[in-house]
Amino acid sequence: MCGIIGVCSIDRNIAPMISLGLRRLEYRGYDSVGVAIVGEGGIQVWKAKGDVDSFLSRFKVDSIAGRTGLGHTRWATHGPPNDVNAHPHMDCRGKIAVVHNGVLRNFVALKNILELRGHSIVSETDTELIAHLIEDEKHFSSSFFEAFVRAVSRLEGSYAIAVVNEDEPHRVYFARVKSPLIIGVGNGFNAVASDIPAVIEYTRRIIVLDDGELGWITPGEVKVFKLTDEGLMEVSREEILSRVVFIEWGVEAASKHGYPHFMLKEIVEQPDSVRSTYEGNVSDPVLETIASLLASSDNIIVTGAGTSYHAGLTFTYYLANIAGRHSIPIIASEHRILEGAVGRGDVVVAISQSGETFDTLEAVRAFRRRGARVVGVTNVVGSALSREADIAVYMRAGPEIGVAATKTFTSQIMLLTLISIYTARETGLLGGSEVKVEVASLAEAPNIVRESIGRSLEIISDRELGEHRSAYILGRGLGAHVAKEAALKIKEIAYVHAESYPAGESKHGPIALIDEGFPVYFAATTDSPEITGNIMEMAARGARVVVVKPEDYKLPVGVKEAKTVEMPPTRGDIKLDPYALTPYFQILAYKEAVARGYNPDKPRNLAKTVTVE
Ligand code: AGP
Repeated sequence: MCGIIGVCSIDRNIAPMISLGLRRLEYRGYDSVGVAIVGEGGIQVWKAKGDVDSFLSRFKVDSIAGRTGLGHTRWATHGPPNDVNAHPHMDCRGKIAVVHNGVLRNFVALKNILELRGHSIVSETDTELIAHLIEDEKHFSSSFFEAFVRAVSRLEGSYAIAVVNEDEPHRVYFARVKSPLIIGVGNGFNAVASDIPAVIEYTRRIIVLDDGELGWITPGEVKVFKLTDEGLMEVSREEILSRVVFIEWGVEAASKHGYPHFMLKEIVEQPDSVRSTYEGNVSDPVLETIASLLASSDNIIVTGAGTSYHAGLTFTYYLANIAGRHSIPIIASEHRILEGAVGRGDVVVAISQSGETFDTLEAVRAFRRRGARVVGVTNVVGSALSREADIAVYMRAGPEIGVAATKTFTSQIMLLTLISIYTARETGLLGGSEVKVEVASLAEAPNIVRESIGRSLEIISDRELGEHRSAYILGRGLGAHVAKEAALKIKEIAYVHAESYPAGESKHGPIALIDEGFPVYFAATTDSPEITGNIMEMAARGARVVVVKPEDYKLPVGVKEAKTVEMPPTRGDIKLDPYALTPYFQILAYKEAVARGYNPDKPRNLAKTVTVE
């Protein structure tokens, strides 16, 4: 998964816009970086392995003259991170430059054809083939755009691409299928980019491109076409204008705002993001529509990846225990396990904060082919999921730049809990007045999450886990799902092998791992007092036990060997427990990572949005 940007301006050097855009896109990948600038003497390319900051300072990018150019920050899919595989890539004669986010499925076939036709491919990437393909198609085309369209028509897989050519120094071509691409509409300039933060400093007027759309920008023009089975259809100027959205959030939301890392900023933002999710959705009629769909469906399938899957698990819990509806959670990349049993009367709730996760989109497409209706729960307006779902509903959590999902997790839970309550009204389990009480109780969540963050920042030491390379994070009932998310955070940010499983399972094997001082954390939600036995089992075998629970939740017996961490009270309301417990584990993971010398915003091997299979 990579970040791409292309800019053309009528009167200014665009290198500073490119470099700022690369900084904003670095969360999408950071193993190599590159820039192409179209100048009087043709196209110049600078590219290297390494992160954005080192690249920009090494090549003094901001001082490069030129009014049209491309930028790319890479997360390797084809070919290891090195200078040759870094984007942009060029054709044989160095007259075309391409940057790309995605994966070409017909990479090998294209490479063979192009090499047979005499092209010399110098890198191991699929992207370079695009430059050679355009070059090759120029022999059969009357214009560069025609060659571009012919080349794009031959690509299979996922791609968001931006292309410049030295014969048209004021134009950037673009195309997208399955990988996100937006247009930033400016004054005297236009830009294409993988994501809104790349251009937000310069313009808040955004057009979200759809799959199959391609075209070009000049400093004063945006031309969009749709590649259809019937051929190339131009999108009218009126439609383009109607698709321009004004982005409400500004630069601050896309910057660290004084915090050392985006992850910490976004953890601390949760009182606001949870409130925004609540207030932005509580009266949204879309939730009623979704609720009636869920109440009347044959089966409910809940799918997502990573943190979004964990939020989905809490949804299955609330759907069952608030609305009396059974649902089947399935990890998106494992959708085949269920596929054959899915049919027309079923509803799929697909959860993805980016709305671009390949696995989740593939699961959605597979279930739709089986006739299921799809509800998309996402944080990004115009994302692929929002456009491919039958009904889309938005978390309204604001942009999440940190690779680790934090505020979007608690926002997903908030939104999914509201949907569960409204579904209970449709199933008749809750009457109108009861629904009002349940909904009103959620208004307390922002204060609980605020208090939880404050306490956690205060009490969590920098080296909670010491030198341990492993830990257990256990829970029962809803706590088992909170524990899953906790373990993921600790794994992906602090690189400690934290394993979660339902606490009751301890005696069925995992407890064999316990030796003196082994760290065992319990996410003790108020629905499962029987967890006390599991706590005592672990403590009795010398584990270093920490019980994280709401302060007003009295476990049946005190466990003197265990350390108890008191989080804000939740009055035994299981709907509020996640807001009391989750921040503790987010902050534990964050502090552990920083103390171990890792950068929480750039965890190794990870990218914010995984748009590859
Ligand atoms: C969570 O911290 C990770 N960044 C990852 O597991 C993420 O939740 C997963 O890739 C799904 O992303 P999505 O919500 O954008 O679909």
